[in-house]
Amino acid sequence: PETITIQELANRMAERAVDVIKLLMQQGQMLKINDVIDADTAELIANELGHTVKRVSEADVEEGLYGEPDDPADLVPRPPVVTIMGHVDHGKTSLLDALRETNVVAGEAGGITQHIGAYQARTPSGDVITFIDTPGHAAFTSMRARGAKVTDIVVLVVAADDGVMPQTVEAINHARAANVPIIVAINKMDKPDADPGRVRNDLLRYEIVVESLGGETLEVEVSALKRMNLDKLLEAIHLQAEVLELKANPNRPAEGVVVEAKLDRGRGPVGTVLVQRGTLKVGDVLVCGAEWGKVRALIDDKGDNVDSAGPATPVEVLGLDGTPEAGDRFAVVDSEARAREIAAYRQRKKRERQHARGVGAKTSLEQMMS
Ligand code: GTP
Ligand code: MG
Repeated sequence: PETITIQELANRMAERAVDVIKLLMQQGQMLKINDVIDADTAELIANELGHTVKRVSEADVEEGLYGEPDDPADLVPRPPVVTIMGHVDHGKTSLLDALRETNVVAGEAGGITQHIGAYQARTPSGDVITFIDTPGHAAFTSMRARGAKVTDIVVLVVAADDGVMPQTVEAINHARAANVPIIVAINKMDKPDADPGRVRNDLLRYEIVVESLGGETLEVEVSALKRMNLDKLLEAIHLQAEVLELKANPNRPAEGVVVEAKLDRGRGPVGTVLVQRGTLKVGDVLVCGAEWGKVRALIDDKGDNVDSAGPATPVEVLGLDGTPEAGDRFAVVDSEARAREIAAYRQRKKRERQHARGVGAKTSLEQMMS
């Protein structure tokens, strides 16, 4: 059932909480400011105080914000979004760094000035690839659990001197569960004890048959350290992406997912988002998890201000009223009023969840003590 605290109800009506409490008392309810009342009672009180009520139901909020499919005629090709996964120390970060620097060398002089948790690289033939830098396995799973399918392709990094390890298997399972194709990057090929054959064989046990063993999974032997075969890896990603025929409609209000968020001292809340559909523009009003904002600035992965960001583009968003959470979805809405309404609704839901958790924890603690 829908509920609201007395404080929040008062806030929304711009009335004093004490007046709400008085009215409730007249109806025989003795409640305090942080107590929760149901939607019907809240509506009664609001009417009593001369306000008209417009209820925002869960469906109102969630549907219509996301999910209406695009007309196929409006879809155009978009870059693939790639996540790098693998066992601890197998070279995920090194590989991302190497790919990023390769991109700088091939692309803009001056290069990357900051790290935003997601960035774009170019293949030798000029195709753009979007890399997401954050997800560890846990983040990947939690994003998926929240309905944010972020990645199109997983690059599975396996160190040639170490072979398939527990987190390699975890990554395979995550990719499978998400129904995302895997490209195997056999890393650390520069090491004297590198044994790529063993990696290939190990993978067979998990039903990954790489191309050189007659299977369909693309594989590339690389060295992040020596920058060996990075172009080949980018091309493999491009090839895989072509098979997927990734498309999106750039001409609609933007939707996407928060990859990373932080509270910056000078700039306020900063969300790194990945646009998944539509085009995000400066001046757009968006809801982002339980926060909302009017886009004050968009900053790309090179640290440059941009006016807009289309599908599969990562950008930093400035102008949010609070810090969202990684994995939160965002959507552009048509008015500030609507954005506020949805954000307030979600804030309330969030508090209710937190409250429920708090109560649960207390109960179990009490049980433990008795
Ligand atoms: P976690 O984030 O801790 O899971 O590790 P990671 O997978 O990101 O590995 P990281 O890139 O931090 O590399 C781990 C170690 O392996 C570092 O000491 C790297 O210098 C080394 N390393 C990474 N790639 C290569 C490579 O291609 N060759 C060699 N010889 N060493 C490498
Ligand atoms: Mg790392």
